[in-house]
Amino acid sequence: MDADLVVVGSGFFGLTVAERIAEQYGRKVLVIDRRSHIGGNAYSEANPETGIEVHKYGAHLFHTSNERVWEYVNRFTAFTSYQHRVYTTHKGEVFQMPINLGTINQFFRSAYGPDEARALIKEQAAELDGKTPENLDEQGVNLIGRPLYEAFIRNYTAKQWQTDPRDLPASIISRLPVRYTYDNRYFNDRFEGLPVDGYTAWIERMADHKNIEVKLGVDFFDESQPISKGNVVGNVPVVYTGPVDKYFDYAEGDLSWRTIDLKEEVLDIGDFQGCSVMNYADADVPFTRIHEFRHFHPERDYTTDKTVIHREYSRFAEHGDEPYYPINTAADREKLLAYRDLAAAEKSVLFGGRLGTYKYLDMHMAIGAAMSMVDNKLAPYFGKGDALV
Ligand code: FDA
Repeated sequence: MDADLVVVGSGFFGLTVAERIAEQYGRKVLVIDRRSHIGGNAYSEANPETGIEVHKYGAHLFHTSNERVWEYVNRFTAFTSYQHRVYTTHKGEVFQMPINLGTINQFFRSAYGPDEARALIKEQAAELDGKTPENLDEQGVNLIGRPLYEAFIRNYTAKQWQTDPRDLPASIISRLPVRYTYDNRYFNDRFEGLPVDGYTAWIERMADHKNIEVKLGVDFFDESQPISKGNVVGNVPVVYTGPVDKYFDYAEGDLSWRTIDLKEEVLDIGDFQGCSVMNYADADVPFTRIHEFRHFHPERDYTTDKTVIHREYSRFAEHGDEPYYPINTAADREKLLAYRDLAAAEKSVLFGGRLGTYKYLDMHMAIGAAMSMVDNKLAPYFGKGDALV
């Protein structure tokens, strides 16, 4: 193998590392992925029946306030002016999210100004009277008061976790944003938009470099092929972005994850819900939300007689499921510390990304973290010949 670096995983973390080392240091990088496509969870493809771009592993909205990341991603794609907005259905009525003055006034059938609404929520949130919340239910009431918590958060969270919030730790939610204005933009970041010609075109441009070779359908733990853990580690430096517990053969136990099942449907109507995402806040609807992909790109000339939706069902991940969101229980955190020690002792292997660090990362965070790894670990190694630690 004539690669200077092997990157396991072609998600945003892996591809950012690969692109920087190939471009900045002129080194040869071999990227492998066990899937049949690059891009990790940000991968998207045109639905064959409608041509509508579908985010295969769940909807991906790009947003960042990090100027360095924004400048970097703009080398590979232009962005549309899309601004994300979320709505929620509760008892047959549609409300704006995150909770804002519009939500509050609709819910309480009122016309409060900011100060009146703030005073009302403060009063409702005082129900626990200084008692420390002992579970997620109490925490929710303590943060925004019972009426809003029970309408918009309680059952949605129960569906996400498949657990009664009275049995979930208070620590899952540290804050619940309430805006005392009518601003219903979902993200507060300075930069936001969707890649003009789609995620896959963006991702392919990152990998399109003479010093980068990509091999798909290759599992790092398949020892019958040459680019496996056994054949590579110790011979060529590795950046590993797969699950950290799997790398060590679950020696310290499994880290727990939530996953989602996405049920895709093509409907024979031009517009199903009038917006890109509708949450379902009530317990009697089994899914958490519906994404309708045509609304991510109103500027595109999509067919007007069909639409594509994903219904999202959340559950705990088991072996073989796609790990999506770290659950991060106290037991998980203990295991993670043990895995970090093992990772630190693993010579010439760097662990990164969402799966490699057991941390939920938005795309801009994964890209930013990959740039930091290049700055702090790989630049000294490839630039100055320092040891890789
Ligand atoms: P990512 O998971 O993308 O890539 C890891 C790659 O490693 C995968 O391609 C995998 O196949 C490969 N791999 C694993 N094990 C391997 C092995 N043994 N051998 C070879 N390859 C292996 N972010 C955001 O900014 N806005 C959003 O709206 C969303 N929405 C969203 C929805 C859902 C449902 C999820 C799960 C995540 C998001 N994200 C997001 C987060 C976004 O997906 C995340 O930032 C990136 O996935 C992080 O990129 P990574 O490269 O770390 O992991």
